[in-house]
Amino acid sequence: MGVLLFLFVCCNLLFFLPDSSFGSDTITSSQSLSDGRTLVSKDGSFELGFFSPGSSKNRYIGIWYKSIPVKTVVWVANRLNPINDSSGLLIINKRGNLILKSQSMRVVWSASLSKEVQQTPVVLQLLDSGNLVLRGEQEGDSGTYFWQSFDYPSDTLLPGMKLGWDLKTGFERRVISWKSADDPSPGDFIWAVERQDNPEVVMWKGSSKFYTTGPWNGLSFSAPTTRPNPIFNFSFVANEDELCYTFSIKDKAVVSRIVMNQTTYLGQRFTWSNNTQTWDLYSKAPRDECDTYGLCGAYGVCIISKSPVCQCLKGFKTKSGGYMDWHEGCVRSKALNYSRQDGFIKFTELKLPDANFSRVSKSVNLKECREKCLENSSCMAYTNSDIRGGGSGCAMWFGDLIDMRSFPDGGQDFYIRMSASELGMKGEPTTKIVVLVISAVALLAVVLISGYLIHKRRRNIAETDQENEDQNIDLELPLFELATISNATNNFSINNKLGEGGFGPVYKGTLVDGQEIAVKRLSKISDQGLKELKNEVILFSKLQHRNLVKLLGCCIHGEEKLLIYEFMPNKSLDYFIFDQTNSKLLDWSKRFHIICGTARGLLYLHQDSRLRIIHRDLKASNVLLDHDMNPKISDFGLARTCGGDKTEGNTNRVVGTYGYMAPEYASDGLFSTKSDVFSFGILLLEIVSGKKNRGFYHSDHSLNLIGHAWKLWNEGMPLQLIDACYQESCNRAEVIRCVHISLLCVQQHPDDRPSMPSVILMLGSEIVLPQPKQPGFLANKKSTEPDSSSSMLESSSTNTITISELEGR
Ligand SMILES: *[C@@H]1O[C@H](CO)[C@@H](O)[C@H](O)[C@H]1NC(C)=O
Ligand SMILES: *[C@@H]1O[C@H](CO)[C@@H](O)[C@H](O)[C@H]1NC(C)=O
Ligand SMILES: *[C@@H]1O[C@H](CO)[C@@H](O)[C@H](O)[C@H]1NC(C)=O
Ligand SMILES: *[C@@H]1O[C@H](CO)[C@@H](O)[C@H](O)[C@H]1NC(C)=O
Ligand SMILES: *[C@@H]1O[C@H](CO)[C@@H](O)[C@H](O)[C@H]1NC(C)=O
Ligand SMILES: *[C@@H]1O[C@H](CO)[C@@H](O)[C@H](O)[C@H]1NC(C)=O
Ligand SMILES: *[C@@H]1O[C@H](CO)[C@@H](O)[C@H](O)[C@H]1NC(C)=O
Repeated sequence: MGVLLFLFVCCNLLFFLPDSSFGSDTITSSQSLSDGRTLVSKDGSFELGFFSPGSSKNRYIGIWYKSIPVKTVVWVANRLNPINDSSGLLIINKRGNLILKSQSMRVVWSASLSKEVQQTPVVLQLLDSGNLVLRGEQEGDSGTYFWQSFDYPSDTLLPGMKLGWDLKTGFERRVISWKSADDPSPGDFIWAVERQDNPEVVMWKGSSKFYTTGPWNGLSFSAPTTRPNPIFNFSFVANEDELCYTFSIKDKAVVSRIVMNQTTYLGQRFTWSNNTQTWDLYSKAPRDECDTYGLCGAYGVCIISKSPVCQCLKGFKTKSGGYMDWHEGCVRSKALNYSRQDGFIKFTELKLPDANFSRVSKSVNLKECREKCLENSSCMAYTNSDIRGGGSGCAMWFGDLIDMRSFPDGGQDFYIRMSASELGMKGEPTTKIVVLVISAVALLAVVLISGYLIHKRRRNIAETDQENEDQNIDLELPLFELATISNATNNFSINNKLGEGGFGPVYKGTLVDGQEIAVKRLSKISDQGLKELKNEVILFSKLQHRNLVKLLGCCIHGEEKLLIYEFMPNKSLDYFIFDQTNSKLLDWSKRFHIICGTARGLLYLHQDSRLRIIHRDLKASNVLLDHDMNPKISDFGLARTCGGDKTEGNTNRVVGTYGYMAPEYASDGLFSTKSDVFSFGILLLEIVSGKKNRGFYHSDHSLNLIGHAWKLWNEGMPLQLIDACYQESCNRAEVIRCVHISLLCVQQHPDDRPSMPSVILMLGSEIVLPQPKQPGFLANKKSTEPDSSSSMLESSSTNTITISELEGR
């Protein structure tokens, strides 16, 4: 009777009050936890109770952070069997087991005891670590439990929790994502330690791997996942008893967890930010493209700084013999003999390949390892299994080698089986190449080339690292000393600052010989910036056109990354056309000259340069003007090279500027030469009208500049668009033709838009132009136009901001 009354009160309280705490961190066998009551750990950091995830009405027993306002569930008991009402009751039964019952006293879930419960009384306790344990009442917190929730992770790994194997009992703990935010039942994404000779940590989606850490080398995984940091440290134990990964927090004030994401191929570490009261993403795996399992196929190596990122290892070539198709992998240039005739090439700074078919002999040293590998015809590579203390043990790889990446700061040495003919004669590779060269070319060349090779070899043996690319840059571009640039810009004085570009400030400088330069100082940011920089440097170094800004060189010095351009005395186009005073300086003939020059520069990017380049951020502030007001396109940092025959791409990183982006690019990330044509069309309208597309305001309607132009065009009054300041100088026919061309360029459907060669033709001739169809993005704010995507993109803000949404996949 007492119990019933108690239950009744609880159930009623549920409707008035938030969950009420049990007032203790333990439950004894005479007590129970009903829906609406919670158990709180002693220090108040964790809470156990019933909850409903997301929009679901189902009830689950779970553990969440008590001290954090954003409800974050870290463990769920009945993942597979929710209760459909608030009748749940968590109790310790007569046999000392923990069970969850629902209405009609049906057992929904029970703890699977790892140890036989003695006839002693048992209690359930929620520890400060978030571990829920079942232990003997007299035991105290001695660390021996009949059962603990830490052995049955849900989607979260907390500090102190173990991922992996108890080898004595064969018991495995894996982390498995929720199905969705509303459904904690096990989803597709799994994080586990692979029990194999050469263990590694792997992430799966269903039955396909999407990430491995590479094998454990005694010190770290072969691709170090974490750098030493003040917040946490991790350990990987691989002995006869255990094979598991765990982490601990160094600073007890920090709250950190790792969670397997439900929807994306990601394991994420979050830390709680007291300042913003949100979870901050601290790190993730996979981190980048190159971490994608097997991205480059067999014998391919992923080099994040290269484009494409997949390359063949030295001694291997693509199957087709040409450009590398990702995943296709590579084949040997010279066939193996599969006998002792073969040899090995040492590669350095590699993340080792997937070790699922690798064998370890701890007592074998490197020299013996080589012999053993040579003897077995299916052994493809070997290295030390433990790199501590100069290296020991032997790990051999059988079958194709997959999932390698270059790791300049943390990779390992790796010896890959090669045909003797690949190795050449007995001696060192360098000397051999030099010998060949001697027989082929004149002595002077030999001296130069061997000097280059020796220099290169001294720095690194493998073909697989960044040096190569850096050297290519070195060869093609003059490098400036930091001191030279610092000197030229008055130590980056504020007085020399020209403005702020997409990736950092731009300074004016004067070299000792009097040459004026513009220095783009890339913000001291992420690797992202570095990637962007390398893109720009490589692209620019290959482009020469009078309507493109010339890159004079670069300077990379630690944190400092600088690009040095020819200086453009007349700043950028936006400085003229959108400014009341300055716009008077541009009469129609100058404007038309700028339009044609910009079109030619863009045509060169699209068609005439060796690479097909899509600018992706063409706008008035990216058209610079020289002494004679010749336009030069700048800022290729965002451009992406497409393969010669490829004019379209898809990106999950939208980079561009509102107001200039084509609809298909802004909404779907689809870019093509035709999305550049769209931006060109906007630029054309802006030059004609002297108004900005973004932030355009008209008292009669809420249309943007395109919508306004389209309206005037259909009303037969295109000349009303022109900027009053050049009215006298204008050639009406040319202006009308430009408006006409711009409307063709901004048509909604990319296929309807002309290509740049057609645009040039239209600008320079009298040919009859087709009638434009309705343009994309007509409205500024909400309007009657049936263009639903516009309201999402066009806010009423007058700022032209460059958006860069990072983070793909
Ligand atoms: C809840 O589940 C029980 C047992 O499965 C079932 O009998 C009952 O009809 C369900 N109630 C609702 C509201 O779905
Ligand atoms: C982390 O470091 C501390 C102190 O350096 C050490 O006591 C602890 O065992 C380490 N934890 C792990 C999981 O390696
Ligand atoms: C965050 O706030 C809590 C509660 O005020 C405090 O105990 C903890 O030390 C803080 N953590 C950090 C990292 O400042
Ligand atoms: C999964 O990742 C996305 C994107 O990073 C994030 O918004 C979401 O909250 C993550 N889910 C979980 C369960 O952490
Ligand atoms: C390996 O080399 C030996 C000796 O040169 C030769 O007789 C044999 O045919 C080669 N085997 C293969 C598979 O190339
Ligand atoms: C290793 O993994 C690859 C890719 O998942 C698979 O093709 C191969 O069969 C595996 N090898 C072994 C020995 O499990
Ligand atoms: C090579 O080693 C593998 C793995 O240990 C073994 O399965 C195979 O039988 C060996 N082959 C030969 C020819 O010794």
